[in-house]
Amino acid sequence: MRILVTGGAGYIGSNLVDRLMADGHQVYVVDNLSTGKITNIQHHLGSERFHFVNDSILNTTTMERLIQQVDMVYHLAAVVGVKYVVEDPLRGITVNVRGTETVLELAFKYWRKVLIASSSEIYGKSTNVPLSEDDDRVLGSTSVGRWSYSDSKAIDEYFAFAYGKKGLPVVVVRYFNSYGPRLDPKGYGSVIARFLGQALRGEPLTVYDDGLQTRCFTYIDDTVRGTLLAATVPEAEGLVFNIGSSRETSILELAQMVLRITGARSEIRHIPYTEVYKAEFEETRRRVPDVRRAKEVLGFEAQTPLEEGLQRTLDWFVGQDEASPTSGLQRTKEGYRCKQS
Ligand SMILES: NC(=O)c1ccc[n+]([C@@H]2O[C@H](COP(=O)([O-])OP(=O)(O)OC[C@H]3O[C@@H](n4cnc5c(N)ncnc54)[C@H](O)[C@@H]3O)[C@@H](O)[C@H]2O)c1
Repeated sequence: MRILVTGGAGYIGSNLVDRLMADGHQVYVVDNLSTGKITNIQHHLGSERFHFVNDSILNTTTMERLIQQVDMVYHLAAVVGVKYVVEDPLRGITVNVRGTETVLELAFKYWRKVLIASSSEIYGKSTNVPLSEDDDRVLGSTSVGRWSYSDSKAIDEYFAFAYGKKGLPVVVVRYFNSYGPRLDPKGYGSVIARFLGQALRGEPLTVYDDGLQTRCFTYIDDTVRGTLLAATVPEAEGLVFNIGSSRETSILELAQMVLRITGARSEIRHIPYTEVYKAEFEETRRRVPDVRRAKEVLGFEAQTPLEEGLQRTLDWFVGQDEASPTSGLQRTKEGYRCKQS
């Protein structure tokens, strides 16, 4: 197939591209490299099955040319994560809403199947765990910037369902804290990247608040597999799926695991949210997906244990970091050891 991946130089997008290329597809990527990196896709640049366009999804001329050429679209390009959206809400809303509208409008014009990447942020501060796809959303005031990310993704979903109602094949996936190689330290689910980076540098691991807030960390291979299944299982069309692990881990537990696997002697330092974000910040305590629909319709379940996924992510981070003179870890026969320990 000829497949367009928007945001294909990003963390999830580039891992998805690797799989699509391995499966023999013609892959088109559009990415403006705002958070994506050329290093994530440069190993494909020489292939005649790979086509990269460095442009914004807001450029309708580029998007029309691309969507015309392909059989289906994985739409992942977005301003991602609470941090970026809180910093620049206007950009977040514009890219996430207008960009998705453009993709869907053109997919409708040329009748192309579309998978839309949405987020567990959709559920806001709902305490109704596990969160199932048709549950109510619970959000704060519009004066609290972080909820604009949730709402921008919700509008994307409304657009997708509206086109779905007109017969266009669409499917929506809501990712829960994906992590793995190529994770952006400032991106979504970045707590793993942050902890690994801090451990590698021998710095304190900064845990926000009491650290008892929980997330369900999902290894990238599982995220990508769930995405491919959602895009290819015919019964999935018109539906939305939680794509995540059902294992709940507190941030404090995660910090302890990172210390264990890295062997770092760093302390765990609790800091209030207000030190990191503005006073307006609101946190969600638990983010646990109801995974039944994904299991029943897609036959999908996350498989990679957190310990194993963390180890693979650490191996990748060390690989990146070894080139750097600031590296805090040494690889030994027994595993990793802190240089200063
Ligand atoms: N990582 C997660 O756990 C997670 C969780 C929930 C939802 N998501 C969703 O998954 C998708 C991919 O996220 P990611 O984690 O890989 O983040 P990412 O930031 O690595 O990927 C987003 C990509 O979109 C690109 N981009 C941004 N604005 C663009 C524009 N105007 N035009 C073209 N490209 C643009 C960026 O350069 C980047 O490569 C996003 O839609 C995100 O909302 C991710």
